[in-house]
Amino acid sequence: MPMVRATVVEAGADRSELVFQLDPGGCLRGRIRPPGDKSISHRALMFGALAEGETRVEGFLEGEDTLATLAAFRAMGVEISRPAAHELIIQGVGLHGLQVPDAALYLGNSGTSMRLLTGLLSGQSFDTVLRGDASLSRRPMGRVTEPLAKMGALIHSTEAGTPPLEIQGGRTLQGRQHRLRVASAQVKSCLLLAGLYAAGETCVQEPVVTRDHTERMLQAFGYPVEVTDRGICLNGGGQLKGNALQVPADISSAAFFLVGAAISPGSQLLIEKVGVNPTRLGVIHILRLMGAEVEFRNSREFGREPVADLHVKASALRGIRIPREQVSLAIDEFPIIFIAAACAEGETILEGAEELRVKESDRIAVMAAGLAELGISAQPTADGMVIQGGTFSGGRVHSHGDHRIAMAFSMAALVAKGPITIDDCGNVATSFPGFVKLAGAAGLQIHTEAGAGA
Ligand code: S3P
Repeated sequence: MPMVRATVVEAGADRSELVFQLDPGGCLRGRIRPPGDKSISHRALMFGALAEGETRVEGFLEGEDTLATLAAFRAMGVEISRPAAHELIIQGVGLHGLQVPDAALYLGNSGTSMRLLTGLLSGQSFDTVLRGDASLSRRPMGRVTEPLAKMGALIHSTEAGTPPLEIQGGRTLQGRQHRLRVASAQVKSCLLLAGLYAAGETCVQEPVVTRDHTERMLQAFGYPVEVTDRGICLNGGGQLKGNALQVPADISSAAFFLVGAAISPGSQLLIEKVGVNPTRLGVIHILRLMGAEVEFRNSREFGREPVADLHVKASALRGIRIPREQVSLAIDEFPIIFIAAACAEGETILEGAEELRVKESDRIAVMAAGLAELGISAQPTADGMVIQGGTFSGGRVHSHGDHRIAMAFSMAALVAKGPITIDDCGNVATSFPGFVKLAGAAGLQIHTEAGAGA
């Protein structure tokens, strides 16, 4: 298909030189507030942009991933102001008010931006091109382009089914029932977003429950969504109404501190305003099974999202077989759960988590290599890992540009025998700007060696 105006301005070029240096020992104490939830921040931007009227957002995550979504909507003519830190005012343009962007939309490292936008853009009157960085350009997009094609969308990817994606506008989408093979909230959300533009009803049936922020937020914007025996269903052609939202702190970011405090003697930490949506609580269930002491305090709601302050203190952990039904509810937390397993007494077994191989890095391979480098016996399998609890030595590990790998190995230093060096940490800024400062203030002995931005 003809695709002009595809010049790309790639922000934040190569920051792979950023290195984390950690001195061994210490513990985590005090009160912290991690940044806003990434999944909810992306969706707040998307639904705010497509709504009628103004949407105000507090607690927005100013990470590179969510800022990529923000830039994409500005490029499509949506006025978004940032009156104060973590605050947005979005002037919604309505479902049919987006304008053709001048260039390809560059989405950096952000799989959520790319997969959700692919659904939304399939329903527009104009063509778009979506690009990403080296990691995103390796990630599978067939899981969204194939079901979208069945609705009538026309999308070109590389032969391998990876980005860049060229999405043709002016198509007529037809609602249908999708039965997903992969457990993926990104795929579910992509199809529901396309469903807003489709004739009739779109239903998505998941193989297991995944995070339900899209469903909750659609309802918060006044869009009817029903859970029936055909899955999560909505009818196209409705309207979203501008809204005021408060974004909770990201439980996926809090997880590094939950584990850091659980494994390091003397720790006692209160993590404030954490989103505790039941579809995100796998990490808490798993850590409690391992013997961690995590307490919910001051439970409340931000709109339709449950929130609590999490209190955690050091405790002895034991190895477990991780219940399969928790895997999709903890899918982003396995790098740090592996660190907890390495500190536990006995063996921890994870199965049924093959999705970890197609995240920002192959998290099974990269974590197994890093654990082995730090003296832990870790046996990777096709869909998981078997880890024997032990003691971390010092050493040098590579994060492969994966934010969650970098932050997970940082916490290992609390109980390591020697210093830990972590290469390629620039992408921590995608989900957790300010990690080094916040972790340092809580007691982690961390500093950076080159570059800036974490
Ligand atoms: C996300 C869903 C998950 C998760 C990602 C955010 C979302 O991806 O790993 O960080 O916001 O919908 P999958 O849908 O690929 O599991």
